[in-house]
Amino acid sequence: MINYEAIENCVKRAGEIVLNADLNNADVEKKAGDANFCTEYDIKVQKFLIEELSVILPEATFFGEEETSNNSRDLSSEYVFYIDPIDGTTNFMFNYGHSSVSVGLCKNGNMIGGFVYNPFQDKLYKAIRNEGAFLNGKKLEPEDLSVSEGIVAFGCARYNECDVDILFETVKDLFLKSLSIRSGGSAAIDISRVAEGSNVIYLEYRLQPYDFAAASVIIEEAGGVITKVGGGKISLTEPCSILAGTKKAHAEVMKIAKEKRYNSEF
Ligand code: IPD
Ligand code: CA
Ligand code: CA
Repeated sequence: MINYEAIENCVKRAGEIVLNADLNNADVEKKAGDANFCTEYDIKVQKFLIEELSVILPEATFFGEEETSNNSRDLSSEYVFYIDPIDGTTNFMFNYGHSSVSVGLCKNGNMIGGFVYNPFQDKLYKAIRNEGAFLNGKKLEPEDLSVSEGIVAFGCARYNECDVDILFETVKDLFLKSLSIRSGGSAAIDISRVAEGSNVIYLEYRLQPYDFAAASVIIEEAGGVITKVGGGKISLTEPCSILAGTKKAHAEVMKIAKEKRYNSEF
């Protein structure tokens, strides 16, 4: 039996580290690519999570974003935790109050549990496969809205290579078809907010598995859909594009994105 309650508790305690961070005195390192940062809190939170989760599920290995000595990046075991210690690091550095701790649990290549915690709003999104998705204990059952009935969210990062022209052409189309657009800066939260019914779609052309693994269970258990932009199965081993939405909006945006020359390989 997996102790999901202990995992949830651990994710919330990690969120407290983020919430109580002393940003004025934090060390910040630059990583590869443009505008790609890692603060001492990204490291601290990841170390904490791996230490605690190793006790909760000793047979699990870890695929975390940051370089910490306890991050095995080994995907070959039965259980793998996908960890983004701070999803939304740039937001975090600039006091946006929109960052999350994201922890997903995978069993034999299938995501079975997802926890996304935004400590700034004390919002915990959680899903366990076949048991539903919840926000602070309340079941998430979003309406199946179409693009014209809701808010479209998208993400992009300066350090991720993607065709910015095609992305912004697509976003322009979606802006004109929807009620409005947003780019929140934490893919894990922004996908979970589709499950919450706040966004009808989340689109990004390149994300790492640890960015979306946890949120993928949350959106699916809330009755939504998550695939690559062209409709292919999301990859848990390498970066891929992500389209997460209500059933209606997902089908609509997939069609629009394909017309913009993105295909199922992407
Ligand atoms: C980023 C955020 C952002 C998304 C980027 C991600 P990070 O993660 O999720 O919303 O657009 O692609 O890399 O670097 O803040 O953990
Ligand atoms: Ca991330
Ligand atoms: Ca991160």
